[in-house]
Amino acid sequence: MTDPALLRSRMVDELTAGGFLDPGWREAFLAVPRHAFIPDVVWQEQRRDVVPFQRAEDPSRWMQLAYASREFVITQVDDGNPVGPGLIGDAISSSASQPNVVALMLAALAVEPGMTVCEIGTGTGYNAALLAQRLGADHVTTIEIDPEIATRARAALSTNGFGNVTVITGDGAYGYPPRAPYDRVLATAAVARVPYAWVAQTRPGGRVVTPWGTAYLNGALLSLTVGEDGTATGRLVGNVAFMWLRAQRIPLAWIRDCVYDEDKAQVSHTGLHPGCVTGDYHAALAIGVLVPGCEYRLCRAQDSSGEYTVWFLDSHTQSWASIDYMPGTDTYEVNQLGPRRLWDEVEAAYTWWKQAGSPTADQWRFTVTPQGQQVSAAEDDDVVPVWGPTPAASH
Ligand SMILES: C[S@@+](CC[C@H](N)C(=O)[O-])C[C@H]1O[C@@H](n2cnc3c(N)ncnc32)[C@H](O)[C@@H]1O
Repeated sequence: MTDPALLRSRMVDELTAGGFLDPGWREAFLAVPRHAFIPDVVWQEQRRDVVPFQRAEDPSRWMQLAYASREFVITQVDDGNPVGPGLIGDAISSSASQPNVVALMLAALAVEPGMTVCEIGTGTGYNAALLAQRLGADHVTTIEIDPEIATRARAALSTNGFGNVTVITGDGAYGYPPRAPYDRVLATAAVARVPYAWVAQTRPGGRVVTPWGTAYLNGALLSLTVGEDGTATGRLVGNVAFMWLRAQRIPLAWIRDCVYDEDKAQVSHTGLHPGCVTGDYHAALAIGVLVPGCEYRLCRAQDSSGEYTVWFLDSHTQSWASIDYMPGTDTYEVNQLGPRRLWDEVEAAYTWWKQAGSPTADQWRFTVTPQGQQVSAAEDDDVVPVWGPTPAASH
């Protein structure tokens, strides 16, 4: 099947059956031709590479991809300059998000007729088109940092009848004051710190919805409500993983780049099973908050022994730690080196999380003020301050 209208209708059915689609968005998803926003050249992940796929190679596969309800479509790599030969890329720098995630985020936005929205991260323009279809194009402002992507989205929006959407080429971390205040701000790139500009440009009672994450776990959807006093409070309402807002990118730490002087590492032992700090979404969320800047990689043995090593890496301070898991044992060897003792921090964070009653993602509370962002879990009096001032406040 390659008929876009039929594919679109099937996508909508799948989104509905999966419980992703708020009924209020159904008409917009049926009306907006997603394939018209997808460029002819897209990329697909193949092991460590991101390889190009041209529409002309297989038009039917390209069309199916455009309407796959649970797949994102990579539309740019390496900020537009693919590092490999033949357009092969290393890092994804723009995509059309998975339709099911788009639907979930739009549901979380809870729009009503007449509202204005500022979207951060225009990408293909598809999400902006959905917003325009529902709210009217002149109610939608969208900001894209990459000039080429912004130009392409502007053209796609215009060709498809949404020419009155305001597409701004710029850094969305600062919002777009000339069209503020907005009823809703929706980011489609992840942040570790919510820029205060988004709060400042949302009217009291309005919402800011953004993917949020830490170096340890990129994977939550944050919804904030702005108060009369100009501060925003909110909570996590879903789990989504997004590319980072450009200024907040967390460079992927490679084990080979971060681990050095293995023979000089401090060796200790722990009874904490490494699976506890990697396998539980809610624990990982807490560790990410309490151990900023720490990433982890899990490397399984090539044989069938079931052994694996978890590496903890902080490229900024050049600290690393590792823990070796072997089936059938209940103590595990830990190696650590660098200014930070990353395993000790991770273990302490996990212990705190357990003692706090294992708070789940929805129990974290967020506050964003001009001074910065605070995150607290479980009890409101147990506030764990994280990170410094937001980018907008510190510039
Ligand atoms: C996942 S894509 C957005 C998908 C898009 N909403 C769509 O419907 O296709 C994220 C986009 O955010 C853009 N971006 C990253 N940092 C940004 C920033 N600081 N300001 C504006 N856009 C940014 C990226 O260039 C990328 O195009």
